[in-house]
Amino acid sequence: MIEKLQTHYGFTAMPFGRSIPVQALHPHPGHREAVARIQWCVDQRQTGVITGEVGAGKTVAVRAALAQLEASRHQVIYVADPTVGMRGIQSQIVTALGGQPARYSGVLAHQTASLLAGELDERARLPVVVIDEAHLLANTDLESLRMLTNSALDTGSHFALLLIGQPTLRRRLKLAVLAALDQRVSTRFAITGMDLTETAAYIRHHLKYAGRSDTLFSDDAVAAIHQGSRGYPRAVNNLAVSSLIATYAAGKAIVDLSAAQSAITENSE
Ligand SMILES: Nc1ncnc2c1ncn2[C@@H]1O[C@H](COP(=O)(O)OP(=O)(O)OP(=O)(O)O)[C@@H](O)[C@H]1O
Ligand SMILES: [Mg+2]
Repeated sequence: MIEKLQTHYGFTAMPFGRSIPVQALHPHPGHREAVARIQWCVDQRQTGVITGEVGAGKTVAVRAALAQLEASRHQVIYVADPTVGMRGIQSQIVTALGGQPARYSGVLAHQTASLLAGELDERARLPVVVIDEAHLLANTDLESLRMLTNSALDTGSHFALLLIGQPTLRRRLKLAVLAALDQRVSTRFAITGMDLTETAAYIRHHLKYAGRSDTLFSDDAVAAIHQGSRGYPRAVNNLAVSSLIATYAAGKAIVDLSAAQSAITENSE
């Protein structure tokens, strides 16, 4: 199907895909601000929380921000699945910093803290711990993470911590039991959906990436896709691809309102 679409529309690459390279990302304001906040947080060795609905572009923003870090001066530890629990996270940190994770949890916690604290002084590399899907962390895990940020005896932190997750993460941090962690968070940012103008530019951007700079989606199709997706990039991608398929199936050249509407119906089933 992808090949047929590429031939039908003359695409040089498939638009609206997940594998879009960092340099080709669309710079809408929400994306740019998330990237800037993440970079600030790393520079300042702080704790940051980035939230957004499913498909809002959180992971992509992290990818973009990390890609710009000077590799020799940073050690990125990216935890994609925090359901491994605190032990799993600590083991991942220890391994990334060249250690052999200790078997006993008390020892492992201490080992994690001291490796994190030593990396900057000993190897001049700042550890950047990124926990994606952080809304899945248990309260006890969040509390352990706070202890980790606390363990430096001097005031300066020796690493940056980024918690990335769905909006429930931000609400959970407001709970009394997590107040101590919440107070440590210096950067908070919620990625919202794009507005209509941004969604239109986003669609054009992906199409241009695929080699089509001319108008391929009618204005009312774009408006319908925007409404159906609430401006969230992944939902825009899904509706745009379905619209392209519907248009191809109807033997048409331009994605019109009826193609967009059938895509919305199909995606809501
Ligand atoms: N700035 C952007 N430029 C181009 N495409 C983007 C951009 N932001 C997001 N996307 C597209 O939207 C998709 C979803 O983004 P991403 O995976 O970052 O969402 P998420 O917020 O991490 O979602 P989830 O909560 O499911 O993890 C990406 O695969 C990408 O195709
Ligand atoms: Mg994600």
